[in-house]
Amino acid sequence: MQGLIDHGVAGLHHLNKGHIDCMDSNYKIYFGLGQHLTLINTPEVFKVSVAGIKLGNYLTHTLAPDIPNRSFLDIGTGSGVHALLIRALGGHDIIATDISEKSIDQARLHEHINFNQAKISFLVSDLFNNIAGRKFHTIVFNPPGWRTPSPSLLQRLKAIELPGEIPIESMFYGEQVITRFLEDLPQYLEPTGKAIVGLNSLVGIRDVLSRYNQRHNGAPPLVYKLAERHTLPLLYYSANWKACRKHLTKEFEHWSSQDLATYCIDHNGNIYWSYEIIEFSLRTI
Ligand SMILES: C[S@@+](CC[C@H](N)C(=O)[O-])C[C@H]1O[C@@H](n2cnc3c(N)ncnc32)[C@H](O)[C@@H]1O
Repeated sequence: MQGLIDHGVAGLHHLNKGHIDCMDSNYKIYFGLGQHLTLINTPEVFKVSVAGIKLGNYLTHTLAPDIPNRSFLDIGTGSGVHALLIRALGGHDIIATDISEKSIDQARLHEHINFNQAKISFLVSDLFNNIAGRKFHTIVFNPPGWRTPSPSLLQRLKAIELPGEIPIESMFYGEQVITRFLEDLPQYLEPTGKAIVGLNSLVGIRDVLSRYNQRHNGAPPLVYKLAERHTLPLLYYSANWKACRKHLTKEFEHWSSQDLATYCIDHNGNIYWSYEIIEFSLRTI
């Protein structure tokens, strides 16, 4: 929570108080253009992080004024934050999915809290599995940001896993999920559509993109460009994962030594990573 304030993300204020209070379970996020959302913090559902706020800000900056005529898919919606923001900005045709049923329940509740009436289709789905046959103008994905844990880290994470914490899949296995996402994406994009994806440098962006290019012999069906980049402090997201801090740091070191992750450490030992908002569209030539 502290990192949100320190890194200039204004507008995350808890309800009724107008200041940050970690004990509160409600929080309010402001994205610009007068758009804000009220969300409930539940341990099983990924709480909107600084990166999620940056992605929301980017959507607010860039989505065209003809948003009511466009179709949207928010994959890995978590709390529903970006689908709800798109609705607040005028979107009518919005589907949001998550592999976690608890997230989908929570996202539905958030739509009710913020808009009273249901309009967004919230579905449990592993990536595109339950949305066959549709194409979208804009697909948003803020995927899990860390790589697949090693067997020893996984064992530690499982050993301290308590019921009611966010699942490991919320943040780990990122390179596998993004790889599958990129392979499926072309068939779900309208010809002029784009996917707005927020990648964490602890997922191994170079590795994921270069393997993507290699699989398609240097001419993949998608082209991409970096739209924005932010350096953000590492958060541990759950008390359990924070308890594994030492082992997580070792894991990051190992990934980095193999050029599978990028980050830096300040003189106090704090880790900073790069959040990269990348736009993918269909290759035309
Ligand atoms: C980093 S969180 C982002 C949540 C939300 N979009 C946000 O920005 O706050 C990643 C989300 O992706 C979901 N997820 C992970 N693997 C997935 C998959 N294969 N298909 C759909 N959702 C997945 C997780 O459950 C989690 O809610």
